[in-house]
Amino acid sequence: MNWGMKNRISRIIKPETGRCVMLAVDHGYFQGPTSGLLNLSETVEPLLPYADALMITRGAIRNWIEPTADIPIILRVSGGQSILKELSNETITTCIEDAIRINASAITCSVYVGGEYEKQTIDNLSKLVDDGEKYGIPVLAVTAVGKDMAREARYLGLASRICVEIGAHIIKTYYTEDFKKVVEACGNVPVVIAGGKKQPEMDALQMACNAVSDGAVGVDMGRNIFQSDSPVGMIQAVRAIVHEKKLADEAFQIYESSKK
Ligand code: 5RP
Repeated sequence: MNWGMKNRISRIIKPETGRCVMLAVDHGYFQGPTSGLLNLSETVEPLLPYADALMITRGAIRNWIEPTADIPIILRVSGGQSILKELSNETITTCIEDAIRINASAITCSVYVGGEYEKQTIDNLSKLVDDGEKYGIPVLAVTAVGKDMAREARYLGLASRICVEIGAHIIKTYYTEDFKKVVEACGNVPVVIAGGKKQPEMDALQMACNAVSDGAVGVDMGRNIFQSDSPVGMIQAVRAIVHEKKLADEAFQIYESSKK
């Protein structure tokens, strides 16, 4: 791995702990004005001090994030579909030159293994990896789950391993029973979990705790943080699990006391 690639990865996955808390706010690229992200800067600014990286599109970053913000960017460069249509029909929406102009620390696309446009999304990933390798920019592959795709270890392990084989540098997938098998399928490639739909805070914290104890290097969490009744308390609690190895109930106290 070249110096630039290693340097960018270490801006995201902190060398002190080998772990990371990514904040995902790229939902608008297929969901439009997602609850909590209508005024993206109002939501994100208070959370930035507690995030190790921000996953976002180029349009959102230019509209709602100050260029002076001190946060590594994981740039969402795939899209082309919406919640109204077949989700797997994605293309690459942002060229590598624009990612470089934005000073992205990583680029990301979704891969829909089992989806109608599976091959197209694997092809998207392979193009990103070629560009990323050329310019020293790591690629985070999201194992997306469409409407009918199973969230279980056999399927997520298959999807994650395909992304590893295509050359992804970080895998983002979903937590599931037997999650250790998914991590194992990825070899030395670091794995983070998505939060998924909003759950009660304690459940989301327990999931984060289970994921890191099963070998994930952290989370790339969105709705379970920014749709919480205390987004700052929630990201602080997630951080305590990921970086300080706190248990879920200890982290829950951090979230609870943030509301007082
Ligand atoms: C969609 C994504 C989103 O960034 C991510 O899944 C959203 O995070 P969360 O599920 O925690 O709200 O990659 O494919």
